Amino acid sequence: MAHTTPYNVGVIGYGWAATAHIAAINATTRGRVTAVCSSRPLDTAELSAKHGGPIKAYQRVEDMLADPAIDVVDITGLPSLHRDQAVAAAKAKKHIILEKPMANSPEEVAEIAAAAAANGVKGCVCFECRFSNQFQVTKALLDEGLLGTLHYGEVDYYHGIGPWYGQFRWNTGKKDGGSALLTAGCHALDALLMLMGNDVQSVTSLSTKSASPIFKPYEYDTSSVTILHFKNGAVGKTAAIVDCLQPYYFHTHLVGSEGSLLDDKFHSMKLKADKGHWSKLSMKMLDSGDVSDHPYLAQFQAFFDALDNGQDMPLTSFPEAKKTFEVIFAADTSAAQGGVPVKITT
Ligand SMILES: NC(=O)c1ccc[n+]([C@@H]2O[C@H](COP(=O)([O-])OP(=O)(O)OC[C@H]3O[C@@H](n4cnc5c(N)ncnc54)[C@H](O)[C@@H]3O)[C@@H](O)[C@H]2O)c1
Repeated sequence: MAHTTPYNVGVIGYGWAATAHIAAINATTRGRVTAVCSSRPLDTAELSAKHGGPIKAYQRVEDMLADPAIDVVDITGLPSLHRDQAVAAAKAKKHIILEKPMANSPEEVAEIAAAAAANGVKGCVCFECRFSNQFQVTKALLDEGLLGTLHYGEVDYYHGIGPWYGQFRWNTGKKDGGSALLTAGCHALDALLMLMGNDVQSVTSLSTKSASPIFKPYEYDTSSVTILHFKNGAVGKTAAIVDCLQPYYFHTHLVGSEGSLLDDKFHSMKLKADKGHWSKLSMKMLDSGDVSDHPYLAQFQAFFDALDNGQDMPLTSFPEAKKTFEVIFAADTSAAQGGVPVKITT
């Protein structure tokens, strides 16, 4: 039977991402946050006043999951907790919004996807960049055939995550940070797969780290470059650089049989414009690491709309995001072995 009342969402974790999620969920037409679970004791009255609606505070995930009024669980806590929380939510028959990374190992990601499928619940992974104006416009340009058939593409992530960034306190550890790709570069690799398709045959990756003392606390390599070999013969590249000292930059360069795109500029032979100069696309660029600038609203609206129809959501469902993580884990395996090619087996 169709779900007619709003979807009640219980948020796990109450950090930076959670605050952006709460505002975005409440701004959709179908979701409202009615509970928050944090290991810190939070005050129900304060939470409700701050977020403009009744919100119950929980301190134990199992208590929140036992609440039959909760329809959706939104997991925004530390990555090392994602697997246990997501599997428990699936078993409690709650639909799941899950922040990236889904988890920090391929086994855990597979467990999460399997638990959701076995319990008939749907997932939404926060690869919200897919819903950004920049990548929606870029994808529309590709779908119009203006670049022809792509044979090369690169999407790179440059964002210095140093002590000035709240996550630094846990992101430097291998357990929660994982790798340059898992902690943040995953957005760029995921965007590359959105634009070029996710039929990847093999990957080769190399990693290193900055000599700057600023990034010394990191227990893993904070710069990596991954070459992707697609099954159709195309080639792609993603640099994941979290130890740079420069403005945030999401770099996109696509090359096809009818033209090229560089960020917000393009040339298409089909339009007969001057190949010696770029033409300009007017669109909102992904140019900030601030979660308040991220397109969560469009993504969560698409998730609730898909729940209404009993379907997997477009672009960032568990099965779709799992494919991206399979490529990421293969890339990290390659980098750990000094760049040997690793086949994608799924
Ligand atoms: N999709 C994106 O672009 C994006 C952006 C930011 C974060 N994230 C993801 O969201 C998740 C959480 O990241 P975040 O930036 O919100 O991290 P955060 O450091 O703000 O919060 C992380 C966890 O620490 C807890 N916490 C915060 N302050 C605390 C305190 N004083 N005492 C005890 N616990 C405290 C929070 O409740 C939360 O569970 C991660 O998985 C991260 O990768 C995703």
